Amino acid sequence: MHILAISGSLRATSSNTTLLKAAAALAPAGVAIALYDRLGDLPHFNPDLDDIERGIAPPAVLAFRALLNQADGVLICSPEYAHGVPGTLKNALDWVVSSGELLGKPVALLKASRATYAHAALKETLSVILAQIVDEEWLSIPLPGNRVDLAGLLAHAEIPALLGHAMAAFVHTIHAGRSETSS
Ligand SMILES: Cc1cc2nc3c(=O)[nH]c(=O)nc-3n(C[C@H](O)[C@H](O)[C@H](O)COP(=O)(O)O)c2cc1C
Repeated sequence: MHILAISGSLRATSSNTTLLKAAAALAPAGVAIALYDRLGDLPHFNPDLDDIERGIAPPAVLAFRALLNQADGVLICSPEYAHGVPGTLKNALDWVVSSGELLGKPVALLKASRATYAHAALKETLSVILAQIVDEEWLSIPLPGNRVDLAGLLAHAEIPALLGHAMAAFVHTIHAGRSETSS
């Protein structure tokens, strides 16, 4: 099983990205969680650059869509900026509205901080593009601030267990969705 992890932060030492890296390290056996690290390379969304029928779009966009197509599920962890979703993340989602890679795709919203407005806005956008949103209490992993490093997170007294459980539950949700579709 392949899960694509997307952080809404471009910061080199981002706490959201670090949490996703920890999730990758704690992925259940047989599950690969790969971090998408090209969010900042996507051009500004412009429908004029996108010819979906002919498969023509900027190369970074085509690569992003291919990764989403290959993924069984998507894991998003994002900060909030000025009560909104970071522009880079919203831009990435705008590129897949018409092409439909997230349609019916399980998308889990991992929460490292409150980010109430961004979270609600993300859910709204994902529901419009008909993603299968996974937003459960077990996806809330309270971090001890935004200056965490990977080794520190993995050595934390509670976070590895919470995160390991969250990843196992997300994988279970993906499997359950598949058996619903096939029955
Ligand atoms: C310009 C700016 C605006 C921010 N606005 C908000 C906000 O509206 N709500 C919030 O909860 N945090 C806000 N924050 C705090 C960030 O969400 C927080 O620092 C977060 O941990 C950054 O994520 P990162 O560590 O993954 O980069 C803001 C930070 C910056 C730099």
